[in-house]
Amino acid sequence: MIPVLIGADDLHGRIAELAADIRSDAGPGTLVHFVCVLKGAFVFLADLLRVVEGPVSCDFLGVASYGAGTMSSGQVKLTKDLDHPLKGRYVVVVEDILDTGHTLMYLQEILAAREPAALRTVCLLSKPSRRQIDVPVDYIGFEIADRFVVGYGLDYDEAYRNLPYIGVIDEEG
Ligand code: PRP
Repeated sequence: MIPVLIGADDLHGRIAELAADIRSDAGPGTLVHFVCVLKGAFVFLADLLRVVEGPVSCDFLGVASYGAGTMSSGQVKLTKDLDHPLKGRYVVVVEDILDTGHTLMYLQEILAAREPAALRTVCLLSKPSRRQIDVPVDYIGFEIADRFVVGYGLDYDEAYRNLPYIGVIDEEG
């Protein structure tokens, strides 16, 4: 069994808090338009969406970063664009993990140019020790150490996305 870092109950409890914060900031009647960053964030989006009260919608985009191994090079490009415009919408970008910050910085720049009414970001996991760019994030689920994490949408060579919890596959601790 892959060792547990964050269990399913802790994930769901924290996600309920994030959902309440997102709705509180958006206001009760505002349509919250979630932009899910593929692939890793799709499990998080599915659970988050179901516990946000009031009107919501969602769309999906794909990104790829280039560099050696698991190190982000800072070069990011879109592999799948959104299906719907963002202009005038209350947008919340949904990411699974914030590492160097290059991906999110790129996304915030290109999405802001589409003139949403608001552009917020929620990240389930953050590794502060890995940050290279001080990108603004409105909601963070859990800050974690620099461990190789899988599960709950996150993969190792496409495996383990189906684990119902966040696990670790490195050798530390
Ligand atoms: C992860 C994550 C972010 C990015 C964060 O995606 O979903 O998009 O890396 O890294 P950064 O802060 O260093 O830019 P990944 O490359 O694992 O792709 P996947 O979600 O499709 O598995």
